[in-house]
Amino acid sequence: MSVAHPLPHDAAALHVTGQARYVDDIPTPKGTLHLAFGLSQIAKGRITAMDLDAVRASKGVVAVLTADDLPFDNDVSPSLHDEPLLAAGEVHYLGQPVFLVVATSHRAARVAARKGDVEYAEEEALLTLETALAANSRFEDGPRIYQKGDAAVAIDAARHVIEDTFELGGQEHFYLEGQAALAMPQEDGGMIVNSSTQHPTEIQHKVAEAIGLPMHSVRVETRRMGGGFGGKESQGNALAVSCAVAARHTGKTCKMRYDRDDDMTITGKRHAFRISYRAGFDAEGRIAGIEFTHLVNCGWAQDLSLPVADRAMLHADNAYAIPAIRIESHRLKTNLQSATAYRGFGGPQGMVGIERVMDHAAHVLGLDPVALRLRNYYDAPAAGGSATATDNGGSAPRPAASPRDISEKMKDNSTPYGMEVTDFELHEMTAQLLETSDYTARRAEIADWNAGNDRLKRGIAFSPVKFGISFTLTHLNQAGALVHVYQDGSIHLNHGGTEMGQGLFQKVAQVAAARFGVGLERVKITATDTAKVPNTSATAASSGSDLNGMAVKAACDTIRDRMAAHLAQTYQQPASAVVFEGDIVRIGAEEISFEAAAMLCYTGRVSLSATGYYKTPSLEWDRIKGQGRPFFYFAYGAAVTEVVVDRLTGENRILRCDILHDAGASLNPALDIGQVEGAYVQGVGWLTTEELVWDGTGQLRTHAPSTYKIPACSDRPDVFNVALYDAPNREETIYRSKAVGEPPFMLGISAWLALSDAVGAYGAAYPHLNAPATAEEIWRAIGQVQNGV
Ligand code: MTE
Ligand code: MOS
Repeated sequence: MSVAHPLPHDAAALHVTGQARYVDDIPTPKGTLHLAFGLSQIAKGRITAMDLDAVRASKGVVAVLTADDLPFDNDVSPSLHDEPLLAAGEVHYLGQPVFLVVATSHRAARVAARKGDVEYAEEEALLTLETALAANSRFEDGPRIYQKGDAAVAIDAARHVIEDTFELGGQEHFYLEGQAALAMPQEDGGMIVNSSTQHPTEIQHKVAEAIGLPMHSVRVETRRMGGGFGGKESQGNALAVSCAVAARHTGKTCKMRYDRDDDMTITGKRHAFRISYRAGFDAEGRIAGIEFTHLVNCGWAQDLSLPVADRAMLHADNAYAIPAIRIESHRLKTNLQSATAYRGFGGPQGMVGIERVMDHAAHVLGLDPVALRLRNYYDAPAAGGSATATDNGGSAPRPAASPRDISEKMKDNSTPYGMEVTDFELHEMTAQLLETSDYTARRAEIADWNAGNDRLKRGIAFSPVKFGISFTLTHLNQAGALVHVYQDGSIHLNHGGTEMGQGLFQKVAQVAAARFGVGLERVKITATDTAKVPNTSATAASSGSDLNGMAVKAACDTIRDRMAAHLAQTYQQPASAVVFEGDIVRIGAEEISFEAAAMLCYTGRVSLSATGYYKTPSLEWDRIKGQGRPFFYFAYGAAVTEVVVDRLTGENRILRCDILHDAGASLNPALDIGQVEGAYVQGVGWLTTEELVWDGTGQLRTHAPSTYKIPACSDRPDVFNVALYDAPNREETIYRSKAVGEPPFMLGISAWLALSDAVGAYGAAYPHLNAPATAEEIWRAIGQVQNGV
């Protein structure tokens, strides 16, 4: 069977030979025009004059458009109508598109875009969280608050109380393929758009709005992205809309791609947070109450900031049953790039908050941080599990291995938002990982080693992940598919998900092949296309395989059932006697090839094409109250990371990392392990070397790989042991698998905590480490620890 096999990515050979086709590789018609934006040179103000004569006179320029030239809506926002494609009077950040150049080549457009002469009445920009808070510059009337119990009372009554504030930086997506789009005008004024996007339907919607046509007149196709990581959920709108508007204006095919510096200067990044906490706990480290305040730097436009900030709140508990907790979230509006989706979608920020609290509390008590974490874990579900096996192909979930003693199970196992945790896998996973990573012995060995070393110190840390799976905007949890079986027995597969390197297309093709009992070579993976499957959600929230896998299964099963009925009738057998397996269809004692079966059904006038549809069950969520069941289930993971730090320079290395990750019954263990490894390294990058620096004018100074440091191959752990925790999802997902795209990103937190552990070895004080923990930040924190503050 094709499902659960560690098959390579379907396009792996194309990727490594350079044959994989991205938007910029699509052969374009003669006369295709190229686009570039002229960007705002200030962070905030009003445009008082714009002289674009030099731009128009520049070599190769065909047209120059400003906000006044846009025929219909001037908006590329995915949420509120607050994001003009081209600045309309006001500018809100340094790098905001102000005018659009259409020229005969990419280079001509970029050269011309530099020649604009724009005058501004400058206003004071809000570039920091303090100034935004002081100006009450925010996206909602006041802070959003989720709470359970009375945290203040619980903290005040506790034996020990800690409090602190720390910074969490943003993160550039650094997808290898930059943002790109191509629009071809059609005979009826409609548009065919190729876009590097996680959200073709959103591109279709915004393009239709911008050219004043119904959505049926715009067809968007996405074969693949060279990485998205959340940065292509909404940030591709500006390019696709520009191409469509320019194509309508000129009648020519138009193409736009951002050069790397422009991409980094224009597009939104991960939300930077400042997190403050106050926590109370007893002598054993049992947390009684926590208060968190999240200051969220949303940048200038709303984009996806509200659901991102919500998800941070929804992960403020991570793996821990906190009896009383209060989370207050301020969504602040600043004059910076509009922060957007990024792997984990706010979850990582929320989770770092509580992992820091656990770490800090353990330091105060002199306890092993793992022991303290275990005392605060949610309870494991009672043995037996609630779900039963059904026709999803998966086996029934196994009972929990380590249900805790009933007398201890007085704990309220509900999250701060009132969702019962019924699938908690971390007790067993933690036990396994501590064993395989030899945590306890290594921790003792490291302490000995540190005692004998003055300059270098090593550190080790464990951190768990519990990540909620589903879009918190409940209606997005739906998907569609379109499957055809041709008369030669070949299968055409299409669904609403997009491929960005994560391997979704391969996983879903494995599902299709399994449903028909055929080899994968029969299944043709095709580009995402809004004309084939309409009204899709972004491929995001890690739900791609959950949603599209189920939709494809439904479509395949419809066709398979029709085929079975026809073949049963033809061979005078009950439909239950028809079995699709091993590329053969068995009908009672008869056996025919799958292509013969397809041909028989075709000549028997059986429809061999079907759509499939799926919506996630059981969801109910009130985001204003912060109550309900926003998630279908949780995905779990745990990591142990060991690092070494140099006191003199703050330089550091990851020596070893051990991970145990829960991908349910994996659809494809090779792809899932790839996701876990990549996500961990990306998470580590966020918390260590990736530093975004804006200067006092609001100019992003780190807008190229020379100054913005993503992890290189040589930065991955010297020893990197990644294993999957092979247990079926307790909920009925596709073959009992679990979503895997985002959750392992947060395993990178263990590296940040290991650095903190190493820094702490230089003195007695708790290291007030900020993120990213760059060499400079580590050096600073070591000084602080040595001085005992
Ligand atoms: N993996 C690769 N190689 N490239 C990507 O862009 N994006 C991540 C994750 N893994 C990404 C990736 C993000 S942000 C999400 S939400 C999921 O993949 C989306 O895909 P899925 O739902 O199919 O897991
Ligand atoms: Mo992922 S941040 O949900 O695209």
